[in-house]
Amino acid sequence: MILVTGAAGFIGSNFVKECLSNPDERVVSLDQLTYAGNLSNLEFCVKNQAHIFVKGDINDEEKVSKILEEYKPNKIVNFAAESHVDRSINSPEIFFQTNVLGTFRLLEASRKYFEGLSKEKKEIFRILHISTDEVYGSLAELEKPFNEENRFKPNSPYSASKASSDHIARSYYKTFSLPIMISNCSNNYGPYQHPEKLIPLTILNLLEDKEIPVYGDGKQIRDWLYVEDHCRAIKAILDNGNIGEVYNVGGNNEMQNIQVIETICDLLEVYSPRKSGKEYKDLIKFVKDRPGHDTRYAINNNKIREKLSWIPNESFESGIQKTLQWYLTNKKWVDDARDSKHQAWINEQYTN
Ligand code: NAD
Ligand code: DAU
Repeated sequence: MILVTGAAGFIGSNFVKECLSNPDERVVSLDQLTYAGNLSNLEFCVKNQAHIFVKGDINDEEKVSKILEEYKPNKIVNFAAESHVDRSINSPEIFFQTNVLGTFRLLEASRKYFEGLSKEKKEIFRILHISTDEVYGSLAELEKPFNEENRFKPNSPYSASKASSDHIARSYYKTFSLPIMISNCSNNYGPYQHPEKLIPLTILNLLEDKEIPVYGDGKQIRDWLYVEDHCRAIKAILDNGNIGEVYNVGGNNEMQNIQVIETICDLLEVYSPRKSGKEYKDLIKFVKDRPGHDTRYAINNNKIREKLSWIPNESFESGIQKTLQWYLTNKKWVDDARDSKHQAWINEQYTN
């Protein structure tokens, strides 16, 4: 039994799918269903007896403790977080509430549960805290990609809150011998990603003939990883990772934002050309830059490749085609994602 927190979000729901593809796994999903949580991301398993959904907050230590006592998981994967950098600039407090205090409270409940386990159960119990490459800050053009020894230099309230949660997780391993591992992953893309993020925002805007807001000069670099490859990496760490250790996960797919956007425009010209006959690229619009914008992320994934034999299956070319096809065929999901809360965010972030 695995407890997955933040299971109704983008990566969490893809991870639940990965787990339930194994008939021996059972999953209890915990999610507060914030604006980013979407129960329809878990629709594929509503009738699956191996899956239970509980609505709740990782800050609610009593509720987490009850879940642990009732379902007795032998693994916990913590995805629950506020995850959007732009929102952390507009409203930072919730990021510290959820990502820092929430992680602390989840770990407190886990520590108490762990202490009550038998020796045999303690040996197999694992917690994986899901984190981000953003904790390492920003790379200059010719700097080496981040490895697990890089210093933390977070630049946004989001990355600072994630860096804090990584430190808390580490301290619970060192001080209380809680069997924790941490993974720091680069930018994910794929099915079920909230349309506030660059790739789904680009796809959804283009399909509605709306402009694509490119921050600054669009030359910032991200290291893109298809979400299913990330989920397989998480499984590999959970099953065979060393406790107390950190694993960097990335796809060796460094691309400038503008290249990503132009690739999507080119693919849409083939799959779904504009009715007006104009080019999708005409919708690209350079706008004011994100404050403190990190110019480049890149991950050195040698450790996970060598120690856990993990490699990504998808190139950016194959992954982006699958992603685009998913957004084109899941019209109801797309329509629901463009709800009033999303529209309010678009107005707040992009008007003027
Ligand atoms: P997301 O925003 O899509 O999902 C987050 C989920 O957490 C939502 O379902 C939300 O309802 C839930 N949640 C928020 N606060 C909660 C709380 N207090 N209690 C319980 N549930 C709560 O995020 P994502 O993109 O799926 O990211 C998941 C995790 O992976 C995050 O920790 C993020 O920092 C990390 N990460 C994301 C990426 C990426 O590219 N998306 C890359 C590396 C690491
Ligand atoms: O690196 C991992 C991180 O990747 C995760 O920890 C975060 O949770 C996740 O949101 C993501 O952060 P980014 O800030 O890199 O992702 P986002 O999709 O918001 O932006 C990607 C790049 O595109 C970034 O350089 C900012 C730019 N961008 C984004 C938006 C939303 C634009 O130019 N215009 C936009 O409208």
